[in-house]
Amino acid sequence: MANFNILLLPGDGIGQEVSVEVEKLINWFNTTGIAQFSVERGLAGGAAYDAHGEAISEDDMRKAQSSDAVIFGAVGGPKWDKVPYDKRPEAALLRLRKDLGLFANLRPAICYPALADASSLKRDVVEGLDILIVRELTGGVYFGEPKTIIDLGNGQKRGIDTQVYDTYEIERIAKVAFELSRARHSRVASAEKRNVMKSGVLWNEVVTKVHADHYTDVKLEHVLADNCAMQLVRWPKQYDVIVTDNLFGDVLSDVAAMLTGSLGMLPSAALGAEDPVTGRRKAMYEPVHGSAPDIAGQQLANPIAMIASFGMALRYSFGLKDWADKLDQAIANVLAQGLRTKDIASGGAHIGTAQMGDAILAALKKLA
Ligand code: IPM
Ligand code: MG
Repeated sequence: MANFNILLLPGDGIGQEVSVEVEKLINWFNTTGIAQFSVERGLAGGAAYDAHGEAISEDDMRKAQSSDAVIFGAVGGPKWDKVPYDKRPEAALLRLRKDLGLFANLRPAICYPALADASSLKRDVVEGLDILIVRELTGGVYFGEPKTIIDLGNGQKRGIDTQVYDTYEIERIAKVAFELSRARHSRVASAEKRNVMKSGVLWNEVVTKVHADHYTDVKLEHVLADNCAMQLVRWPKQYDVIVTDNLFGDVLSDVAAMLTGSLGMLPSAALGAEDPVTGRRKAMYEPVHGSAPDIAGQQLANPIAMIASFGMALRYSFGLKDWADKLDQAIANVLAQGLRTKDIASGGAHIGTAQMGDAILAALKKLA
């Protein structure tokens, strides 16, 4: 039986509650003999700042580096609005992504038939939607230097962020997108702004070349990022895989999330490069939603994005693809039964966070 080390970083707000539901699943897996997961818990975001004065401690960073997968809840909240910029809760997330080299962010957006009416778009636009956003996660304007505010001395200041991409960064994310598309419908849309940005011109050039050199069996389309946002709300089912940079990926994945009915539904995986010797990748799994401080601690959070993120860990880190499929099926079954957390209840009856977690675990046991 395979053994895996998980670092669980629940973070802040609803990150705490949704993490409890994932721990239930992990504990169950540990009783079945399917795999053995050792879980260590750490602090990230505001919770870490309160304890250590940093968004994440060096000790937890070391544990993250040596884990098989990090499972991350969510960070942030009004309590930490005034902490220094480099210690703000989000800094934990960005440091984990950067230091672990997690350049490939997979954000699938699936609209379960049972939820088609929870979306703000019409049922026929979203029903059966299944797209994958592949977001570059360690480059671009998130990390480019200079990144600063300078005082111009005339009562004016200047805020500077730098959008920067090197060829290799575009190549490796394009390859991930093309490879993943082959297991889907072999269609990739690459989104950039080549009409105004030099990094967009290079992005377009490099993606075109990677495609021509290695992936001519995949259909490639180039789309301007603003047009992509519009197309996503007009007719999202035209897409299979969308590959894009860090900032556009951030925005487009929030749009895609809402197509599925709720931000509480979207899981994500952040993967590093494959180790040439072990074949393993560093990885972190997290729901796309935030810490939702307004509803934290009230059992109102939807744990599905977090549970489905664990499902992605089963698929991409633990080699348990069949179990990942079963977990996805368990989620679909629970939704088909009519069980809803408040965010997806469309004003109807709803259950709490723990009840949803329990129902999914029960549905999974039935499929086992
Ligand atoms: C996301 C989030 C983060 C991002 C924030 C919390 C730093 O919005 O994962 O999409 O901008 O990447
Ligand atoms: Mg975001």
